[in-house]
Amino acid sequence: MMNVYAIANQKGGVGKTATVANLGAALAELGRRVVVIDFDPQGHLTDTLGVAEAPAEGANLARALLGQFTGELGDLLVEAGRDLYLIPTSDDMFIVEQQMYGRSGREYLLSRFVDALRGWADDVLIDCPPSLGVLTDNGLVAARTRPEDDGIRGRVIVPVQAEDSSLKALRLFVRQVATLSEALTIDLDLAGMVVTQYDKRRGQIPTSTLEALEAHPTGVLMVIGDRKEIREGWRLKQTVLAHAPMSVAASWYRDLAKKLSA
Ligand SMILES: Nc1ncnc2c1ncn2[C@@H]1O[C@H](COP(=O)(O)OP(=O)(O)O)[C@@H](O)[C@H]1O
Ligand SMILES: [Mg+2]
Repeated sequence: MMNVYAIANQKGGVGKTATVANLGAALAELGRRVVVIDFDPQGHLTDTLGVAEAPAEGANLARALLGQFTGELGDLLVEAGRDLYLIPTSDDMFIVEQQMYGRSGREYLLSRFVDALRGWADDVLIDCPPSLGVLTDNGLVAARTRPEDDGIRGRVIVPVQAEDSSLKALRLFVRQVATLSEALTIDLDLAGMVVTQYDKRRGQIPTSTLEALEAHPTGVLMVIGDRKEIREGWRLKQTVLAHAPMSVAASWYRDLAKKLSA
């Protein structure tokens, strides 16, 4: 069974990319073969894993999605750690979004691509951009609920920060999930939120917001505290599991990986 996770929230800075990189590394540590996909044209995941962008000509995700690259899937994968593979972004990912709008079945372009990893990857994590456009729709569709014999289990994970604007952003996101599900007659499994950068010392705003998030039907999978090791690893282009393997921050991502793989 291959797990496909869309890591999505239209809000920026909520920890989507940090979740993909660190959860991806934690799943790989469990001995699973993990593919992380940089689906945000800004390329933060590619940067933070210390990988160069894919060449504009030749093998890149943008050209693969549009059917312009039909070579080996393996040519798109870059090793970013043991059992951890990245599909990096490229300059032309910015243009892909516009080109997708003109295509029928445009929401399924990434899904078709991800499905081809079945049998090879154990987990695929999609780092969605901070917007509710066709790219995020593609990420969600790739992570849709599949028939039981499909060999793929799709789930949506929503990173959030415990601050005042989070609940409103969450409502908007949940509404988009419902709209997309209805329009395409698909089911999306909102597996839960990952609260990131949590610091209860900042007082009532984070603590009361966390309570509200925990009461939300989507549910909270894990609370990841605000830790300098995560930021320092990010700057050094390392996951927190590589940078500070004994840290409590690394252990939270390991716990999340175990929870999702159980
Ligand atoms: N738990 C955390 N503790 C400290 N810094 C974090 C944590 N999670 C994310 N960050 C930092 O916050 C910033 C925004 O996170 P990022 O993953 O890029 O958000 P998004 O992808 O949603 O825009 C990054 O610099 C990242 O290193
Ligand atoms: Mg990001």
